[in-house]
Amino acid sequence: MQHFLSVHDATNIDTLVNEGLQLKKSPFAHKHLGENKTIGLLFFNQSLRTRLSTQRAAQNLGMNTMVMTVGQDSWGLELEEGVIMDGGNAEHVKEAAAVMGKYCDILAVRAFAGLQDREKDYAELVMTQFKKYAGVPIVNLESATRHPLQSLADCITIEEYKTTARPKVVLTWAPHFKSLPQAVANSFCEWMTRRDVEFVVTHPEGYELNPDYLNNAKVVYNQDEAFAGADFIYAKNWSSYEQYGKVLTKDPSWMITQQKMDLTNKGKFMHCLPVRRNVKVTDEVIDGPQSIVVEQAGNRLWSAQAVLKQILETL
Ligand code: CP
Repeated sequence: MQHFLSVHDATNIDTLVNEGLQLKKSPFAHKHLGENKTIGLLFFNQSLRTRLSTQRAAQNLGMNTMVMTVGQDSWGLELEEGVIMDGGNAEHVKEAAAVMGKYCDILAVRAFAGLQDREKDYAELVMTQFKKYAGVPIVNLESATRHPLQSLADCITIEEYKTTARPKVVLTWAPHFKSLPQAVANSFCEWMTRRDVEFVVTHPEGYELNPDYLNNAKVVYNQDEAFAGADFIYAKNWSSYEQYGKVLTKDPSWMITQQKMDLTNKGKFMHCLPVRRNVKVTDEVIDGPQSIVVEQAGNRLWSAQAVLKQILETL
Protein backbone atom coordinates (compact mmCIF):
# COMPACT_ATOMS: atom_id res chain seq x y z
CA MET A 1 0.00 0.00 0.00
CA GLN A 2 1.44 3.37 -1.00
CA HIS A 3 -1.08 5.81 0.54
CA PHE A 4 -4.24 5.25 2.62
CA LEU A 5 -6.72 7.96 1.74
CA SER A 6 -9.85 5.90 1.07
CA VAL A 7 -11.25 2.44 0.46
CA HIS A 8 -9.78 2.68 -3.05
CA ASP A 9 -6.28 2.30 -1.54
CA ALA A 10 -7.22 -1.01 0.09
CA THR A 11 -6.33 -3.63 -2.51
CA ASN A 12 -8.11 -6.33 -0.48
CA ILE A 13 -10.41 -5.45 2.44
CA ASP A 14 -10.54 -9.07 3.68
CA THR A 15 -6.74 -9.11 3.95
CA LEU A 16 -6.75 -5.84 5.90
CA VAL A 17 -9.51 -7.04 8.25
CA ASN A 18 -7.72 -10.34 8.88
CA GLU A 19 -4.45 -8.49 9.34
CA GLY A 20 -6.13 -6.32 12.01
CA LEU A 21 -7.51 -9.40 13.78
CA GLN A 22 -4.08 -11.09 13.71
CA LEU A 23 -2.38 -7.98 15.10
CA LYS A 24 -4.94 -7.88 17.91
CA LYS A 25 -3.75 -11.38 18.90
CA SER A 26 -0.04 -10.59 18.45
CA PRO A 27 0.48 -6.81 18.67
CA PHE A 28 4.30 -7.03 18.75
CA ALA A 29 4.81 -9.71 16.09
CA HIS A 30 6.23 -7.06 13.72
CA LYS A 31 7.92 -4.82 16.27
CA HIS A 32 11.07 -4.46 14.12
CA LEU A 33 9.26 -3.51 10.91
CA GLY A 34 9.16 0.19 11.79
CA GLU A 35 12.58 0.39 13.44
CA ASN A 36 14.31 3.70 12.58
CA LYS A 37 11.16 4.90 10.83
CA THR A 38 9.15 7.94 11.93
CA ILE A 39 5.49 8.82 11.47
CA GLY A 40 4.30 12.43 11.77
CA LEU A 41 0.68 12.92 12.86
CA LEU A 42 -0.78 16.28 11.87
CA PHE A 43 -4.05 17.45 13.35
CA PHE A 44 -6.00 20.39 11.96
CA ASN A 45 -8.85 19.28 14.32
CA GLN A 46 -9.36 17.70 17.72
CA SER A 47 -9.14 13.98 18.39
CA LEU A 48 -8.99 11.41 21.17
CA ARG A 49 -9.21 7.96 19.52
CA THR A 50 -7.43 8.70 16.25
CA ARG A 51 -4.57 10.51 17.90
CA LEU A 52 -3.86 7.91 20.57
CA SER A 53 -4.64 4.73 18.62
CA THR A 54 -2.46 5.72 15.65
CA GLN A 55 0.46 6.61 17.92
CA ARG A 56 0.11 3.31 19.75
CA ALA A 57 -0.19 1.38 16.47
CA ALA A 58 3.02 2.97 15.19
CA GLN A 59 4.80 2.24 18.47
CA ASN A 60 3.70 -1.42 18.34
CA LEU A 61 5.48 -1.60 14.97
CA GLY A 62 8.63 -0.03 16.44
CA MET A 63 8.16 3.40 14.85
CA ASN A 64 8.99 6.79 16.33
CA THR A 65 6.06 9.20 16.46
CA MET A 66 5.79 12.98 16.23
CA VAL A 67 2.46 14.75 16.75
CA MET A 68 1.62 18.32 15.80
CA THR A 69 -1.55 20.41 16.02
CA VAL A 70 -1.45 22.58 12.91
CA GLY A 71 -1.82 26.30 13.56
CA GLN A 72 -1.33 25.83 17.31
CA ASP A 73 2.07 24.10 17.47
CA SER A 74 2.98 25.15 13.94
CA TRP A 75 2.40 28.08 11.59
CA GLY A 76 -1.02 28.31 10.02
CA LEU A 77 -0.91 26.60 6.61
CA GLU A 78 -2.06 28.11 3.31
CA LEU A 79 -3.50 25.42 1.04
CA GLU A 80 -4.57 27.27 -2.11
CA GLU A 81 -2.13 27.65 -4.99
CA GLY A 82 -1.13 31.03 -6.37
CA VAL A 83 -2.56 33.19 -3.59
CA ILE A 84 -1.08 36.37 -2.20
CA MET A 85 -0.24 35.28 1.33
CA ASP A 86 -1.14 38.46 3.17
CA GLY A 87 -3.71 36.76 5.44
CA GLY A 88 -3.40 34.77 8.67
CA ASN A 89 -1.47 31.77 7.31
CA ALA A 90 2.30 32.23 7.45
CA GLU A 91 3.43 29.09 5.60
CA HIS A 92 2.35 27.37 2.38
CA VAL A 93 1.61 23.66 2.32
CA LYS A 94 4.07 23.32 -0.60
CA GLU A 95 7.03 23.97 1.68
CA ALA A 96 5.50 22.63 4.89
CA ALA A 97 4.54 19.22 3.45
CA ALA A 98 7.86 18.87 1.63
CA VAL A 99 9.81 19.75 4.79
CA MET A 100 7.79 17.35 6.97
CA GLY A 101 8.40 14.67 4.33
CA LYS A 102 12.15 15.13 5.02
CA TYR A 103 11.63 14.38 8.72
CA CYS A 104 9.04 11.61 8.46
CA ASP A 105 8.74 8.32 6.54
CA ILE A 106 4.91 8.46 6.74
CA LEU A 107 2.65 11.48 7.30
CA ALA A 108 -0.85 11.08 8.71
CA VAL A 109 -3.26 14.00 8.48
CA ARG A 110 -6.64 14.96 9.99
CA ALA A 111 -8.53 17.87 8.43
CA PHE A 112 -12.33 18.08 8.68
CA ALA A 113 -14.80 19.61 6.25
CA GLY A 114 -15.47 23.32 6.66
CA LEU A 115 -19.15 22.69 5.70
CA GLN A 116 -19.39 26.10 4.00
CA ASP A 117 -18.38 25.24 0.43
CA ARG A 118 -19.34 21.76 -0.83
CA GLU A 119 -17.13 21.85 -3.91
CA LYS A 120 -14.13 22.84 -1.86
CA ASP A 121 -14.70 20.17 0.80
CA TYR A 122 -15.32 17.41 -1.74
CA ALA A 123 -12.12 18.42 -3.61
CA GLU A 124 -10.22 17.21 -0.52
CA LEU A 125 -7.62 19.96 -0.85
CA VAL A 126 -5.64 19.12 2.31
CA MET A 127 -5.16 15.44 1.43
CA THR A 128 -4.49 16.25 -2.22
CA GLN A 129 -1.85 18.83 -1.38
CA PHE A 130 -0.06 16.65 1.17
CA LYS A 131 -0.06 13.74 -1.29
CA LYS A 132 1.32 16.04 -3.99
CA TYR A 133 4.07 17.71 -1.99
CA ALA A 134 5.15 15.50 0.94
CA GLY A 135 7.00 12.85 -1.09
CA VAL A 136 6.11 10.17 1.50
CA PRO A 137 3.00 7.99 2.05
CA ILE A 138 -0.03 9.86 3.41
CA VAL A 139 -2.58 8.33 5.79
CA ASN A 140 -6.06 9.84 6.17
CA LEU A 141 -6.93 10.39 9.85
CA GLU A 142 -10.35 11.78 8.79
CA SER A 143 -10.61 14.18 5.92
CA ALA A 144 -13.39 16.41 4.64
CA THR A 145 -15.32 13.51 3.10
CA ARG A 146 -13.89 10.26 4.52
CA HIS A 147 -12.71 8.47 7.66
CA PRO A 148 -11.27 5.21 6.32
CA LEU A 149 -9.36 4.11 9.46
CA GLN A 150 -12.68 4.31 11.32
CA SER A 151 -14.43 2.28 8.63
CA LEU A 152 -11.74 -0.40 8.67
CA ALA A 153 -12.10 -0.63 12.48
CA ASP A 154 -15.87 -0.94 11.94
CA CYS A 155 -15.32 -3.80 9.47
CA ILE A 156 -13.06 -5.55 11.99
CA THR A 157 -15.68 -5.08 14.73
CA ILE A 158 -18.51 -6.45 12.59
CA GLU A 159 -16.36 -9.43 11.63
CA GLU A 160 -15.72 -10.13 15.33
CA TYR A 161 -19.33 -9.77 16.50
CA LYS A 162 -21.36 -11.16 13.61
CA THR A 163 -23.38 -14.29 14.41
CA THR A 164 -24.57 -14.98 10.87
CA ALA A 165 -22.57 -15.29 7.66
CA ARG A 166 -24.29 -12.26 6.07
CA PRO A 167 -25.43 -9.88 8.83
CA LYS A 168 -27.84 -7.01 8.32
CA VAL A 169 -26.02 -3.73 8.99
CA VAL A 170 -28.00 -0.48 9.30
CA LEU A 171 -26.46 2.98 9.14
CA THR A 172 -28.94 5.30 10.82
CA TRP A 173 -28.90 9.08 10.96
CA ALA A 174 -29.39 10.28 14.55
CA PRO A 175 -30.27 13.82 15.65
CA HIS A 176 -27.75 16.47 16.65
CA PHE A 177 -28.02 20.20 17.21
CA LYS A 178 -24.77 21.09 15.42
CA SER A 179 -23.79 20.78 11.79
CA LEU A 180 -21.53 17.72 11.43
CA PRO A 181 -19.58 16.43 8.40
CA GLN A 182 -20.65 13.50 6.23
CA ALA A 183 -17.19 11.87 6.40
CA VAL A 184 -17.95 8.94 8.73
CA ALA A 185 -21.23 8.09 7.00
CA ASN A 186 -19.69 8.42 3.52
CA SER A 187 -16.81 6.14 4.43
CA PHE A 188 -19.01 3.59 6.17
CA CYS A 189 -21.09 3.34 2.96
CA GLU A 190 -17.98 2.96 0.83
CA TRP A 191 -16.69 0.11 2.96
CA MET A 192 -19.98 -1.67 3.76
CA THR A 193 -21.05 -1.78 0.12
CA ARG A 194 -17.86 -3.76 -0.51
CA ARG A 195 -18.49 -6.28 2.32
CA ASP A 196 -20.67 -9.39 2.32
CA VAL A 197 -23.49 -7.83 4.39
CA GLU A 198 -27.09 -6.72 3.85
CA PHE A 199 -26.54 -2.98 4.10
CA VAL A 200 -29.33 -0.44 4.66
CA VAL A 201 -29.08 3.32 5.21
CA THR A 202 -31.89 5.19 6.98
CA HIS A 203 -32.29 8.93 7.44
CA PRO A 204 -34.94 11.65 7.22
CA GLU A 205 -35.64 13.07 3.75
CA GLY A 206 -33.12 15.77 2.87
CA TYR A 207 -30.16 13.90 4.36
CA GLU A 208 -29.30 11.91 1.21
CA LEU A 209 -25.56 11.26 0.98
CA ASN A 210 -23.44 11.96 -2.09
CA PRO A 211 -24.29 9.09 -4.50
CA ASP A 212 -20.59 8.58 -5.32
CA TYR A 213 -20.05 7.50 -1.70
CA LEU A 214 -23.44 5.88 -1.08
CA ASN A 215 -22.46 3.47 -3.85
CA ASN A 216 -26.02 2.25 -4.58
CA ALA A 217 -26.68 1.27 -0.95
CA LYS A 218 -30.37 0.69 -0.16
CA VAL A 219 -32.01 3.73 1.48
CA VAL A 220 -35.12 3.38 3.68
CA TYR A 221 -36.74 6.54 5.04
CA ASN A 222 -38.63 4.70 7.80
CA GLN A 223 -36.22 4.06 10.67
CA ASP A 224 -38.36 1.34 12.32
CA GLU A 225 -38.60 -0.54 9.03
CA ALA A 226 -34.83 -0.32 8.57
CA PHE A 227 -34.16 -1.59 12.11
CA ALA A 228 -36.34 -4.71 11.72
CA GLY A 229 -34.13 -7.80 12.09
CA ALA A 230 -30.87 -5.82 12.04
CA ASP A 231 -27.71 -7.40 13.48
CA PHE A 232 -25.83 -4.10 13.74
CA ILE A 233 -27.12 -0.55 14.24
CA TYR A 234 -24.51 2.06 13.35
CA ALA A 235 -25.67 5.51 14.48
CA LYS A 236 -24.21 8.75 13.19
CA ASN A 237 -25.35 12.28 12.60
CA TRP A 238 -24.46 14.14 9.43
CA SER A 239 -25.56 17.46 8.00
CA SER A 240 -27.34 17.77 4.66
CA TYR A 241 -25.30 17.19 1.49
CA GLU A 242 -27.92 18.77 -0.80
CA GLN A 243 -28.44 21.89 1.34
CA TYR A 244 -24.80 21.72 2.16
CA GLY A 245 -23.89 21.74 5.85
CA LYS A 246 -27.43 22.62 6.99
CA VAL A 247 -29.22 21.05 9.99
CA LEU A 248 -32.66 20.39 8.48
CA THR A 249 -34.19 18.70 11.52
CA LYS A 250 -33.31 17.79 15.10
CA ASP A 251 -36.27 15.38 15.32
CA PRO A 252 -35.74 13.52 18.64
CA SER A 253 -37.83 10.60 17.38
CA TRP A 254 -34.70 9.52 15.44
CA MET A 255 -32.70 9.07 18.69
CA ILE A 256 -31.68 5.44 19.31
CA THR A 257 -33.77 4.09 22.20
CA GLN A 258 -34.15 0.62 23.68
CA GLN A 259 -37.61 0.43 22.09
CA LYS A 260 -35.93 0.78 18.68
CA MET A 261 -33.16 -1.67 19.51
CA ASP A 262 -35.92 -4.16 20.42
CA LEU A 263 -36.96 -4.14 16.75
CA THR A 264 -33.58 -5.62 15.81
CA ASN A 265 -32.27 -9.18 15.90
CA LYS A 266 -30.63 -8.51 19.30
CA GLY A 267 -28.55 -6.10 17.22
CA LYS A 268 -25.31 -4.58 18.42
CA PHE A 269 -25.16 -0.80 18.83
CA MET A 270 -22.20 0.94 17.20
CA HIS A 271 -21.04 4.56 17.05
CA CYS A 272 -17.61 5.93 16.13
CA LEU A 273 -17.55 8.24 19.21
CA PRO A 274 -17.53 10.85 20.58
CA VAL A 275 -21.30 10.72 21.06
CA ARG A 276 -23.75 13.08 22.77
CA ARG A 277 -25.71 10.91 25.19
CA ASN A 278 -29.48 11.35 25.26
CA VAL A 279 -29.26 13.37 22.03
CA LYS A 280 -28.27 10.63 19.58
CA VAL A 281 -28.63 7.59 21.86
CA THR A 282 -30.12 6.99 25.29
CA ASP A 283 -27.98 6.05 28.30
CA GLU A 284 -29.95 2.81 28.45
CA VAL A 285 -28.75 1.73 24.98
CA ILE A 286 -25.14 2.89 25.15
CA ASP A 287 -24.66 1.47 28.65
CA GLY A 288 -26.62 -1.69 27.85
CA PRO A 289 -25.51 -5.17 26.77
CA GLN A 290 -26.08 -4.50 23.06
CA SER A 291 -23.58 -1.64 22.95
CA ILE A 292 -20.10 -2.43 21.58
CA VAL A 293 -18.87 1.17 21.20
CA VAL A 294 -15.83 0.74 23.46
CA GLU A 295 -14.76 -2.47 21.72
CA GLN A 296 -15.28 -0.69 18.39
CA ALA A 297 -13.04 2.19 19.50
CA GLY A 298 -10.49 -0.35 20.75
CA ASN A 299 -10.31 -1.76 17.23
CA ARG A 300 -9.09 1.61 15.93
CA LEU A 301 -5.68 0.45 17.15
CA TRP A 302 -5.71 -2.67 14.97
CA SER A 303 -7.05 -0.92 11.89
CA ALA A 304 -4.27 1.68 12.14
CA GLN A 305 -1.65 -0.99 12.77
CA ALA A 306 -2.81 -3.08 9.79
CA VAL A 307 -2.58 -0.05 7.49
CA LEU A 308 0.80 1.14 8.80
CA LYS A 309 2.17 -2.40 8.50
CA GLN A 310 1.13 -2.61 4.84
CA ILE A 311 2.70 0.78 4.11
CA LEU A 312 5.93 -0.04 5.98
CA GLU A 313 6.25 -3.24 3.95
CA THR A 314 6.57 -1.12 0.79
CA LEU A 315 9.22 1.31 2.13
N1 CP B 1 -13.89 8.27 16.04
C1 CP B 1 -12.89 9.18 16.05
O1 CP B 1 -12.26 9.46 15.02
O2 CP B 1 -12.61 9.69 17.27
P1 CP B 1 -11.70 10.98 17.54
O3 CP B 1 -12.36 12.13 16.80
O4 CP B 1 -11.67 11.15 19.01
O5 CP B 1 -10.35 10.72 16.96
